Amino acid sequence: MTRHLAGSRPSDILGFFCFGGSILSGGVAMASAMTRLGRRGIGSARWSSMAVAGQQSRASHSFTLPDLDYDYGELEPAISGEIMKLHHTKHHQTYITNFVKALEQLEQAEKDGNAEAIVKLQGAINFNGGGHVNHSIFWKNLAPSKSGGGEPPEGKLASAIKDEFGSLEKLIAKMNADGAALQGSGWVWLGLNKDLKQLAVQTTANQVYDGALFPVLDFSKLLKLQDPLASKGLVPLLGIDVWEHAYYLQYKNVKPDYLKNIWKVINWSDVSSRYEANL
Ligand SMILES: [Fe+2]
Repeated sequence: MTRHLAGSRPSDILGFFCFGGSILSGGVAMASAMTRLGRRGIGSARWSSMAVAGQQSRASHSFTLPDLDYDYGELEPAISGEIMKLHHTKHHQTYITNFVKALEQLEQAEKDGNAEAIVKLQGAINFNGGGHVNHSIFWKNLAPSKSGGGEPPEGKLASAIKDEFGSLEKLIAKMNADGAALQGSGWVWLGLNKDLKQLAVQTTANQVYDGALFPVLDFSKLLKLQDPLASKGLVPLLGIDVWEHAYYLQYKNVKPDYLKNIWKVINWSDVSSRYEANL
């Protein structure tokens, strides 16, 4: 039995992603945000020292794979144990490994005053850091049926779903349709617009927004686009991974069946907690 060490709260995600800065200060801003995240947040992220603006910094990046709250096989038959093990130990781990590598390269580029290298690293940081964030949420969004997985939401979230979508069944139908229609790899999310206090469904491509499509010198803009939902003004509540690696070994090319069955192991209690924490 593996156990998750720390939850990734929406506020941590926003704390991580919603910052900006000039091209020269962006790396320091990132380091500061990472430090906050490491103190509170995703998995067992740790920083051995802080990078502080105006000071010589020495940071050690040690983001590690979060344990799960359940065994790999406990989500069966909705998701096979084989998929869960590969997904967690290989795919998620690879995002973390490459995230740490990119952060170390960023640190060196900052020391060297190499602005070009700093900008080039944003793609790898966005993709792999986003992969770590997204999967850390995803694991918590799931639960075995014996632990409440699949039990409908209650309270404020249940009311909000009814107000926004008409019923839970209609929300599920929308997320399934949007997830099935997503071309290529990506995620389908239930998010919260904090300003409007409104729920919304949103799909995002790959792990994160493709920053390469934007002018690379607009560093602050790239930073704000790291979190797929934050880039759209939404706090992530529930994310469903619709990359092929999440279902192909079991469902082959029938993605709609994966989407139909995953609701049997959705941890609505976790989704509700994220919702109420951001009202
Ligand atoms: Fe994944």
